[in-house]
Amino acid sequence: MPKTLIEPFRIKSIEPIRMTTRAEREELLVAAKLNVFKLRAEDVLIDWLTDSGTGAMSSRQWAAIMEGDESYAGARSFFRLETGIQGITGMKFFVPTHQGRAAEKVLFTAVCKEGQLVPNNCHFDTTRANLEYLGVEAVDLVIPEGLQPATIHPFKGNIDLDRVAQVLATDAARIPFGMITVTNNTGGGQPVSMANLRAYAALLKRHGKALIMDACRFSENAMFIKMREPGYENTPIADIVHEMFSYADGCTMSAKKDGMVNIGGFIALRSEEWMDAVRNLLILTEGFPTYGGLAGRDLEAMAIGLEEGMHEDYLRYRLRTAEYLGERFEAAGIGFVKPTGGHAVYIDARTVLPAMPVAHYPAWALCNALYLEGGIRGVEIGSVMFGKRLADGTETYHKMELVRLAFPRRMYTQSHFDYAAEVIAEVKQRASSIRGVRLSKQSPYLRHFTCECEWVGA
Ligand code: F0G
Repeated sequence: MPKTLIEPFRIKSIEPIRMTTRAEREELLVAAKLNVFKLRAEDVLIDWLTDSGTGAMSSRQWAAIMEGDESYAGARSFFRLETGIQGITGMKFFVPTHQGRAAEKVLFTAVCKEGQLVPNNCHFDTTRANLEYLGVEAVDLVIPEGLQPATIHPFKGNIDLDRVAQVLATDAARIPFGMITVTNNTGGGQPVSMANLRAYAALLKRHGKALIMDACRFSENAMFIKMREPGYENTPIADIVHEMFSYADGCTMSAKKDGMVNIGGFIALRSEEWMDAVRNLLILTEGFPTYGGLAGRDLEAMAIGLEEGMHEDYLRYRLRTAEYLGERFEAAGIGFVKPTGGHAVYIDARTVLPAMPVAHYPAWALCNALYLEGGIRGVEIGSVMFGKRLADGTETYHKMELVRLAFPRRMYTQSHFDYAAEVIAEVKQRASSIRGVRLSKQSPYLRHFTCECEWVGA
């Protein structure tokens, strides 16, 4: 058998990439104040800013869009999606939402109270923000390996059960439910094992607590279980997914990830009481419970996308893509979070720009260099995103300087990945000429989205 794993699809409709020269990109980057968030997408050759809502839909999804039932209440498209989600999750109650954070906002508002505490492996930033907005403490309890970029572990997304037990022993009264994020995006797209899910759910249950899954990348997590967890080698993905959800009492979902759609999300629950509270709030902010802020056609595309996202050939290719880029990085001496995750590769910028002081924001500088040299857009996860300027003018810095390259689904081919590997290796070769930045304008919150920068020494 040939070893090359091919993209398990043919391209039927294409979107041209607008080629730019380095000189053009330098001008564009300076005009964007050295912040890739401010670039126009058409000025980017390979856009790996996020895997969220950016993938390609299949011909079946596009065909289903024509079948969308746009009735306000009781649309056929709702019932089709409901049947699909009940089949996948085994949960009886479901409402659509326009995306993941809307699902979080509605569920948390319906179920949580000020002063409570929610444990999770790692909360994604919108999950944390939606809890904290309600005065609920969001506690990250991922296993220690999950915080060490170079440590190899098959399930670095696992939650630390000892620490969960401690929190339950001291704070059970404050806990409305436990959460688990599959895969763990904040921790490098790392999976959670079935054994960990099972044990976590059992622990919560002993204290009478529900488990809510942040299910954004449930299919990718299921494929990791198939490939890495003994006993699941021959289990069909649908069965693995079913078992994963069997341990949860509910889930929030951004279908912009493994739902393979450009917009959409949902909440699924086993408890009718919680769903009643959710529906009442949903009507207030998202829409009637049979459309939840989406069009009927979006519900159709999601029903098919959820199913296509579980196809094993697709998932094998998907995870292999990230692993392949990791192998190219390894060969070029570029450090990254290991093993590679499902949806992204996280470069350790310090291994590319070892001499750059943290005060010059090496991960941000690398992000800019990738755009400048190759038109590639990634996202900095470092001291611009997580550091702060304090009132006295001093700066705090993040413990890691990472650049996340997140891959839209079914969109880029192997040559795009080869090209990116070459660009990054070249940037490393010329590390001494890569310039750092200083922030010339910033906002007090989420400054990475809007900050303006200047080259150091300019
Ligand atoms: N939970 C996780 C684990 C996520 O990765 C995201 C989004 C959300 C919730 C929120 O979903 O965007 O549909 O509202 N992650 C994107 C990213 C934005 O780039 O990682 P949303």
